[in-house]
Amino acid sequence: MNISKAIRERRTVRRFNATPIEQELIISLLNKAASLYETEETPHWRCVHFNTFESRQRLADSMSAKIKESKLGRLIPSKMTDIFTNQIINTPVILVFISESAENQRLSDKNYAAVCSIMQNFQLLGWEQALGMLWYTDPMILSESFFKEIGLREGERFAGILQIGHFEKMPRGMRKRTPAEKKWVSIDGDDRPHSESLRVSSQSILDILNEAVWAPNDGLREPWRFIFVTSNETVSRLGTSYGDTSLVLLLVVAKEENDLHKQAEDYAAVCCLIQNFQLLAKSKPWHVRRIIPEWIYDRERCMPFGIRPQERIVAVLEFGGSDRYSNSASTSPMLNITHL
Ligand SMILES: Cc1cc2nc3c(=O)[nH]c(=O)nc-3n(C[C@H](O)[C@H](O)[C@H](O)COP(=O)(O)O)c2cc1C
Repeated sequence: MNISKAIRERRTVRRFNATPIEQELIISLLNKAASLYETEETPHWRCVHFNTFESRQRLADSMSAKIKESKLGRLIPSKMTDIFTNQIINTPVILVFISESAENQRLSDKNYAAVCSIMQNFQLLGWEQALGMLWYTDPMILSESFFKEIGLREGERFAGILQIGHFEKMPRGMRKRTPAEKKWVSIDGDDRPHSESLRVSSQSILDILNEAVWAPNDGLREPWRFIFVTSNETVSRLGTSYGDTSLVLLLVVAKEENDLHKQAEDYAAVCCLIQNFQLLAKSKPWHVRRIIPEWIYDRERCMPFGIRPQERIVAVLEFGGSDRYSNSASTSPMLNITHL
């Protein structure tokens, strides 16, 4: 895959044609998408494939019923809801992505981050096959009863519905992304000379970030911010695992809206950006490790990095030379799919 091209050119597609898509292609893309997500801790996630006309009809009926019940939906003419229902029924492929339940917040985030990253990999791989996709999480449909109808189990998190199909026209509309430099702060220390200790320059990271920001993000909120940490003193305060003087960290931070629905969407968008970054970084001579450490859940330990009250760290990217990570075990999550 030409990763850089796919990341820059991928567009959210909302209208599909009727060209059927082979199930084998979807399964093979899903397996590839999972294999591109490298992790040291196996995440738990699953996917439901609305494979038949009848299952899509049930899903469409359920979605349009939720829309009609919602405050906003009551203002929508029923003709429009019928068009929406037909669109769902006729969408060639519909997948629902779910992260499985976990014992604590960190593990739950780990599963959710994995499934969102796999969805992004899947969108990029699909784009190369001329498949367009819409990641759908409209608050009008998301309710306890809808989750029950799609079979969400206790403790599980819904990541999104992907509507998939071939399309005639590239979607129009304005696209923009803010340069990463405008969302970047650097915490440098006087404690080590830059050129000697940094195997990874801030410019090379910014170059990758400026491609990674072409991640899908609802409402184009671009809910991310980057904190680049080279200060030895700040890093070593985090604990013994950060004793390595050549270590450079990039904290990827999400803005937290008051609305919980937007919070989940924004977290997902930041995960897509991080996944783009990791895919792009594969071509670099240095290594990057994505971790969700315990300390990011402790507000006090986040303070030295200037994390604001309405923000949270989504992941920490650790940069080091190839020697540092050559022994770290990396696995890829297995595909767990149910066909309805
Ligand atoms: C977590 C998430 C949820 C989204 N939910 C919706 C949605 O419910 N409806 C919709 O039309 N687009 C949705 N989108 C797509 C965004 O609107 C789209 O990514 C954004 O407009 C940027 O366009 P692009 O993907 O073409 O770069 C969602 C995207 C993400 C990442």
